[in-house]
Amino acid sequence: MDDERVEELLGQVRRDTGGAFVSGLAYIGDRLGLFAALGEIGPVDSAGLAEATRTQERYVREWLKALAAFGYVEHDPAAATWWLAAEQRAVLVDETSPVFGAGTFQFAVRSLGHTDELIEAFRHGGGISYGQLHPEIAPAIDRMHRAWFDHQLTGAWLPAIPGLVARLASGLDVLDVGCGLGRSTAALAEAYPTSRIVGLDPHAPSAAAAREMTSTFANARIEEATLDALAASETSRPQHFGLILAIDCIHDMAEPVGALRAIRELLEPDGLFVWSEPTGSANPLKNRDDSLARVRAALSPYHCLTVSLAEDGAGLGTILGEEGARELALAAGYDSFEILPVDSPAQAFYGLHR
Ligand SMILES: C[S@@+](CC[C@H](N)C(=O)[O-])C[C@H]1O[C@@H](n2cnc3c(N)ncnc32)[C@H](O)[C@@H]1O
Repeated sequence: MDDERVEELLGQVRRDTGGAFVSGLAYIGDRLGLFAALGEIGPVDSAGLAEATRTQERYVREWLKALAAFGYVEHDPAAATWWLAAEQRAVLVDETSPVFGAGTFQFAVRSLGHTDELIEAFRHGGGISYGQLHPEIAPAIDRMHRAWFDHQLTGAWLPAIPGLVARLASGLDVLDVGCGLGRSTAALAEAYPTSRIVGLDPHAPSAAAAREMTSTFANARIEEATLDALAASETSRPQHFGLILAIDCIHDMAEPVGALRAIRELLEPDGLFVWSEPTGSANPLKNRDDSLARVRAALSPYHCLTVSLAEDGAGLGTILGEEGARELALAAGYDSFEILPVDSPAQAFYGLHR
């Protein structure tokens, strides 16, 4: 046995379990407004923070000590004060910032709450359907991905695809598949007022939130349905789309190949399907040095895998990798598969024609 390797592993166990506990504490801070108040009134002592957030000073002091140890909070021991630096505010408090990251804590904590059900699924099969997940999970996903839709989608991703913005500006029918709480649909409707955007999601609470989020846009509509249902309900005279987007959702689906086929049927003859999937390698060893891919590998059984297996689905897991995406596209009958020139560390973008 290599003692150095053992030490390394023990160090990793400590880092990972520390991460699990501090995720819980960060979620508590997010929920109780501790980060927000620190950002607003800091430097402040623990009593001042407790008073401002109507919480118990003793808990708040212990929370501050832990969060400061992890580098999420600044501290002056001589003055016994605590505050957030500008970078900590951007990542932990400002939901509209391009680097907001606190939604991930919410997603992690609420996902880990399903551990007992997941143990049963490991033993007996099946899974936890999207509708059975904690009600905060869909909003947590929206918060995790918000920066994409507030800043990247129409600001960087779509403009990187040659010719697309000009077509959107002249007016396209757009389908936003798996739109969740509708933030992407709203961003598209706002950026391309001459295009007509349909957001599609079968999860009723998400579709209701998406209707609310897009309510001010006359060129946006939300359909509460699966792709298959949308394709089937319009069989007599199906609506076709010049652009179909599927962001971070095909791998979650029970029938990803069926979904890709339905998308193909719903595309106009010269339409473009922009398909994005989480980055990361299908080879787990290549993910060892990639912190985002590691998070995705770890969350997969808790979310992407289990929501699909709950429907007796394909259970692809979170990371398809380029090869996995190519195979699915081929199985769905696409004969072109292009890597789009979109620069994103988080999502890989593929372009497909019918
Ligand atoms: C991980 S979430 C991503 C949501 C959003 N695109 C984002 O990136 O934040 C996956 C979404 O796909 C939706 N979904 C699952 N199966 C679907 C299907 N068959 N047709 C359309 N949407 C589906 C889920 O309800 C969920 O909102």
